[in-house]
Amino acid sequence: MNIFGISRFGQSAISLLFSRLLVFSMALIGCAFAAPNYQEHIAPIFESVCTECHNAGKQSAGLDLSSFASVMKGSSGGEVVRPGLPDTSALYLAITHAEGVKPMPDEGEKLADDEISLIQEWIAGGLIDKPGGKSLLREMSGYTKGEDGPTVDRPTEAIYPSNLPEVPATQVLNPLPVMALAVNPWSDVIAVNRLDQIAIYGRTEPSSQFQHLGNLPYTEEEIHDLRFSPDGRYLLAAGGGGGYFGGVVLYDVVSGKLLKKLAKEDDVVLSADISPDNKHIGVGTPLKRVKIYSVDTGALLHEIDKHTDWVTAVAFSPDGKWLASGDRNGTIYVWEVATGGIAYTLSEHNSQIHSLSWRADSKVLLSGGDDGKLVLWDMKDGWPSRSIKAHDEKSETRYTRHTGVLGTTIDDEDGMIYSIGRNRVLTKWKPDGNRASSQSLDLLPTQVVNRSGSDYLVVGSAKGDVFILSKDKLEIRQGFFYESARE
Ligand code: HEC
Repeated sequence: MNIFGISRFGQSAISLLFSRLLVFSMALIGCAFAAPNYQEHIAPIFESVCTECHNAGKQSAGLDLSSFASVMKGSSGGEVVRPGLPDTSALYLAITHAEGVKPMPDEGEKLADDEISLIQEWIAGGLIDKPGGKSLLREMSGYTKGEDGPTVDRPTEAIYPSNLPEVPATQVLNPLPVMALAVNPWSDVIAVNRLDQIAIYGRTEPSSQFQHLGNLPYTEEEIHDLRFSPDGRYLLAAGGGGGYFGGVVLYDVVSGKLLKKLAKEDDVVLSADISPDNKHIGVGTPLKRVKIYSVDTGALLHEIDKHTDWVTAVAFSPDGKWLASGDRNGTIYVWEVATGGIAYTLSEHNSQIHSLSWRADSKVLLSGGDDGKLVLWDMKDGWPSRSIKAHDEKSETRYTRHTGVLGTTIDDEDGMIYSIGRNRVLTKWKPDGNRASSQSLDLLPTQVVNRSGSDYLVVGSAKGDVFILSKDKLEIRQGFFYESARE
């Protein structure tokens, strides 16, 4: 029996959802605004509250806040504001009374919320000096597909499942959340984690609806990650049993056959990826390890024990040179695949990394964290070119959380970025990190993926449902609902 069918809900449920989404989205689309500047917006705040102790004559901590140039000079401890990076700017940490920092002003009341957000926006906008002044934000290297695009060519044969093994869907009492979701780069084929199996959906014509094509058996307990190889031929499934074993399984996409089991770990594999040449797999586990294995021989090539917490996300760069790994503390490392040596330590997040996505030219790495931030890292030198408050929202009660980026994906064709968060919003960003549009979802999204160059995104939910959405308007077009056997 097929328990995933869309039939139970039918068209009307989808269009109802759709119309509600529309109303929500109107409120969310932000209007463009110019970033605040020092002369007009910031100097008046400093003059009324801070310059009493931080002026040219009296420079507490060696810091003079009475002119733009002296603010830029910083204190005896160094810079106090970093363009684009409020959360790691000493001045912002001091005025928000962050832990471990001497709260400012030293005496008297905390600044008002709107003054704090003006300062936040001034730093985020690149520390503009005066009206019409230049932003100090680093130029983002432009993105043009084709010049430095992915190195993997389209396979010559058709990559579409045919005659998948007859595996009936496992009945569940409580549907599993979508923890792993992948879309094939060269065909409209989607893979989703289910209990003891991977559900495969697909369509042969862009104009038709997706169909449930079958289920691949998975016998390694829980699936935590699914990836298609960049050439589209293989499907990687990673997971295991929490606390006692983990590994990676490779399937052939067309036949659905299990090809190989790799990486025998002593704990579940939380994240895994396959390199663009199909030669390496990289895995991350709660044992704080990143490992790189050979696909051909199964040999362990590099074991890296630099992380101080669970490794929650790994991703190979499209040129195959680097493997990025992120942990539950928010630290990201970039490793050289050939040597296992460290290329960069990236620290801008202060809580769990949920997602790492590379731009197709391997020049920019995008990270999404539980702190609600999206960070665009320049791989020229590992500098955080942009740090964006993306899915950051105060919750009404202490029992709910609305902050946190849960997933990200980049379209290799135009460089557009899509992100989902705990605030139940799907947001589209331009390649330079500026917001393009947002859509409120009527569900808690857990995963987002896209097929580059296509017009659709795939979003998975905490209830196990899978939705196809349009990239232009971010509207739901089709849904697969995960029903429990109890109903
Ligand atoms: C009553 C005096 C006083 C006022 C008002 C005051 N500060 Fe301070 N500030 C200090 C002193 C003293 C220190 C050194 C604290 C220490 O290191 O123990 C300091 C340190 C700082 C530092 C840390 C510099 C570093 O690198 O160590 C920053 C940033 C700062 N102040 C910003 C501000 C801002 C912004 C305001 C206004 C909102 C402000 N201060 C208002 C006295 C003051």
